[in-house]
Amino acid sequence: MAMGTGILKLALFTAFVAWLSIILSPNILAPPEVPGSHTHLHTAETIHLPSAFGPESLAFDPNGDGPYTGVADGRVLKWQGHALGWTDFAFISAPREDCVQPFAPEMEHICGRPLGLRFDKKTGDLYIADAYFGFHVVGPAGGLATQLITEVEDQPLYFTNDMDIDEIDDVIYFTDTSSVFRRRQFLPSVLSNDKTGRLLKYNKSSKEVKVLLRGLAFANGVSLSKDRSFLLVAESTNCRILRLWLRGPNAGNVDVFAELPGYPDNIRRNKNGEFWVGLHSKKGLLAKVALSYGWFGRALLKLPLSFKQLHSLFVGGKPHAIAVKLGENGEVLQILEDTQGKTLSFISEVEEKEGKLWIGSVMTPFIGIYNL
Ligand SMILES: *[C@@H]1O[C@H](CO)[C@@H](O)[C@H](O)[C@H]1NC(C)=O
Repeated sequence: MAMGTGILKLALFTAFVAWLSIILSPNILAPPEVPGSHTHLHTAETIHLPSAFGPESLAFDPNGDGPYTGVADGRVLKWQGHALGWTDFAFISAPREDCVQPFAPEMEHICGRPLGLRFDKKTGDLYIADAYFGFHVVGPAGGLATQLITEVEDQPLYFTNDMDIDEIDDVIYFTDTSSVFRRRQFLPSVLSNDKTGRLLKYNKSSKEVKVLLRGLAFANGVSLSKDRSFLLVAESTNCRILRLWLRGPNAGNVDVFAELPGYPDNIRRNKNGEFWVGLHSKKGLLAKVALSYGWFGRALLKLPLSFKQLHSLFVGGKPHAIAVKLGENGEVLQILEDTQGKTLSFISEVEEKEGKLWIGSVMTPFIGIYNL
């Protein structure tokens, strides 16, 4: 009776995971301490978003105003300082009468879910990677964004995530995280070790799109190096950042730029050419086992767990925050943490500007500002 055995196995497995998580958590499941890290991030100031959730990416316009941030109901908001607060800047889809809940993952394919944001400094246009509606642009006055790309090589963009702009070559590099899983299924995507992510290149003048890399495990953050000789792309599931050489003797080659203690999200370069990487979370025990043993991850996904329960197992119990600064050769220069999640948790992006780090998170209703 294959069916009965399957159910029995699942029941035993459920009992095992429940035992692990209830009896031993957080001691056993908690991710290990990261050597050399500074647990100062809890001193960050926070700015709450009114009726909005999940500021994933943060971008300042060419005048230095903002930041602008994409939120879970499909809008891009602009921070105008404490007197004016957050104002609506752009949106992905229209009409919007059903897009009234700050956080409703089941509505994301209708309302849009803007992730990576980048300004073109010459034109002031804002480029938007929308997880459900593809690659967009909106002018400096904001409003309804224009859809630029929805498919590449006859395959729809299924989970557009982040980008960087090469303003000299007039091309934009961007990621499509998965061709199987949608954004709201990011945990199944990671736990099942999906490898359908792509790194793409959009030529602004010819409007052509080319696939640069395929077979990536959760293709996420993108950043060009200061001298434009290489491009970084985060492979979240593998807890690493890949480097694609664009120029020089290694052009076309890919190598591992950095291995990280957790799941990298967006990558943002500072003016010195160093890279801040926001990590969704550190790698906990269950996630480690799931990535080494495919059946374990697939079994976890079959358990009758809510998103919250599964996410908690995945991150190793408690919410926490970690960001890493990497040098131009991938060396770790600084690790900042809020290990107890007192102020910040689940960082998606860190943007350095004038001695401050502006910090976004796909899972909080606020942004953080940390004084360096
Ligand atoms: C972009 O397309 C134009 C027009 O086809 C071409 O001249 C240019 O070399 C392309 N740029 C890059 C960086 O591929």
